[in-house]
Amino acid sequence: MGSMDNRAAESPDVLYVSRMLTDRAMGHLRSLGVGSRVGSAAPPTRAELEAGFVGVGAAVITLTERVDAALLAIAGPQLKVIANVAVGFDNIDIDAARAAGVIVTNTPGVLDRATADHTFALILDATRRITEGDRLIRGRQPWVWGPRMLVGLDLSAGATLGVLGYGRIGQAVAKRAKAFDMNVIATSRHCRPGEEENSVTFVEHAALLAQSDVVTVHTPLTPQTHHLIDAAALRAMKPSAYLINTARGGVVDETALIAALQAGEIRGAALDVFEGEPHINPDLLDAPGLVLTPHTASAGEATRDTMGILALDNAAAVLAGRPPLTPVDLPGQGV
Ligand code: DGY
Repeated sequence: MGSMDNRAAESPDVLYVSRMLTDRAMGHLRSLGVGSRVGSAAPPTRAELEAGFVGVGAAVITLTERVDAALLAIAGPQLKVIANVAVGFDNIDIDAARAAGVIVTNTPGVLDRATADHTFALILDATRRITEGDRLIRGRQPWVWGPRMLVGLDLSAGATLGVLGYGRIGQAVAKRAKAFDMNVIATSRHCRPGEEENSVTFVEHAALLAQSDVVTVHTPLTPQTHHLIDAAALRAMKPSAYLINTARGGVVDETALIAALQAGEIRGAALDVFEGEPHINPDLLDAPGLVLTPHTASAGEATRDTMGILALDNAAAVLAGRPPLTPVDLPGQGV
């Protein structure tokens, strides 16, 4: 732990923050004037996490911490709220929290634009082969301009973007795609196939896979979306298509994706999130046409400040007996 107020170790007024947040968020914590127990920059070990939770009234955690029934029992009955510094909350056993009477909050809305920006950067990188070109130059191989060299997909010549999950982030990605003159189709739990909104046409899942030049995943990870993109889904995509995932690793079957890239069933992909994160399946490193980033889609400076501050405000509100600002209570709410 970075700092720990042992006198406050069993106080229900104390806020545990599992990891150092950004400077602005840590400044905000100080301004709240609540007793706190703060971890270090690295993710806590399970033992450190348990020690952090014991006796406190509130916990602010990040997506690297897993909350289960055992941890909630160790924490004690005074625990009122767990505030996740993320919009996704698949790291928390929501049923167990509900059973323990613990409120769970997340950070919806504040990271949509940053995540959409990063998603679009990945779309551009994969389709216009930016990282591949960078590697070529850094590989110190001789090269010369050529009409067939590193040719990629023309996004703005009528390419179709398929947004799998038209929530806040999916909508922000669609907006960016429109600025690139792309056709945008999407799946949504709230819209019927054939309906249109802001020039985005809603389609069935199968039609989205078959028609898109780029498929971008924006669904939360739930038992229903686990491996939503599996071998069959990848086979249903155009051989010239690209897959982008900035949602959660478990939505894509990585083994199937590696096989599809190796077999040329799709042309390329970009992943910001991974099934066994932070462990990376070594076969991903050799898969052709694949761009990788280390779960940094929301890593805009102001965005990370705001995520931390919102999580702290959620925790502080519940500690003070007020309602949380952004509770997790909707089935399927998430990334
Ligand atoms: C989230 O908020 O769920 C993001 O994955 C964090 O980067």
